[in-house]
Amino acid sequence: MKAVIFNKKGSPEKLIYCEVDKPVPNDNEVLIKVHAVAANAADYRSMKMGIIPKRKIFGADIAGSVEFVGKNITNYKPGDEVMGDLSSFGFGGFAEYVTAPEKALIIKPAKILFEEGATLPMAASTALQALRDKGIIQKGQKVLIIGSSGGVGTFAVQLAKYFDAEVTGVCSSKNVQQTSSLGADYVIDYTKENFTNSDMRYNLILAINGNYPLSAYKKVLTPNGIYVMIGGSLSQIFKSLLFGWLMSFGSKKMRSLSAKANKNDLEFLAKLLEEGKIKPVIDQRYSLDKTADAMSYLSEGHSHGKVVIIME
Ligand SMILES: NC(=O)c1ccc[n+]([C@@H]2O[C@H](COP(=O)([O-])OP(=O)(O)OC[C@H]3O[C@@H](n4cnc5c(N)ncnc54)[C@H](OP(=O)(O)O)[C@@H]3O)[C@@H](O)[C@H]2O)c1
Repeated sequence: MKAVIFNKKGSPEKLIYCEVDKPVPNDNEVLIKVHAVAANAADYRSMKMGIIPKRKIFGADIAGSVEFVGKNITNYKPGDEVMGDLSSFGFGGFAEYVTAPEKALIIKPAKILFEEGATLPMAASTALQALRDKGIIQKGQKVLIIGSSGGVGTFAVQLAKYFDAEVTGVCSSKNVQQTSSLGADYVIDYTKENFTNSDMRYNLILAINGNYPLSAYKKVLTPNGIYVMIGGSLSQIFKSLLFGWLMSFGSKKMRSLSAKANKNDLEFLAKLLEEGKIKPVIDQRYSLDKTADAMSYLSEGHSHGKVVIIME
């Protein structure tokens, strides 16, 4: 089969499109013909840190059809359309075929396209877990989403509206219209305005991208507000991990999210998508042989929505 193999520790240009052996599922695995796979920061960050999957194939968020099932598989059969996050199961999605345990997968609703299904697992689950589990989002709350235009942010804006919050997105000029069209009540263009100087106070802040002092987030939180650190620059992540607990004294809370693949969450999100309550924003589509280009584009940090590899 064709696959994209990581060649050497370093940059996305080290990804090589080539012929490799088709994976063979064991008794507890499903063989999936991949139709679409979304690229994530987890792919290029693992690549940069030298955390390489066993088969040297990245790509976690897949949607495809079941080709073959191991003898202990009870929930899936050949022909089923599935989707899932394989980041805890060896990645392998930048390929024509991948194997996965059934616990990594859900049935893809027929109404959802493969490319749409591939956008959901990591990005939308991260947004959901940040808002619901870490942020304890409540109806009517004021929610500030910093980095509203990326893969995670575009879902976060829509999910926060689904939870009936009042949403303010932070993005650059070129994405203001997109954040508004996803339902944000207010949009702050970070190239023109610094939200940390504002008199507005927020019940919940999702720091998805950017790099601001923790004291600035704390300043714009309401007395019982919650700040959830999701991502951004490496220095932002380290600041939050190292000093976030110090800032949590008093009623304001500073929390970090480490999103986990969760079948129930993915089923919930797929249902929202099926019902038209959320919609994926696909910025770029690439063919499998152009995966290195896709990863380079994503790693620049300015995609507006998801980057998806579509199989021929
Ligand atoms: N904690 C977890 O479990 C978890 C899970 C998934 C992802 N993450 C992290 O979350 C982060 C975002 O992931 P993603 O998939 O959404 O990335 P992404 O799609 O690459 O995000 C790109 C977006 O970020 C925006 N952006 C860049 N700098 C910004 C700034 N200073 N202020 C506001 N927006 C800015 C860009 O908009 P402009 O072009 O307009 O600047 C672009 O639209 C990454 O750091 C990733 O590692 C964490």
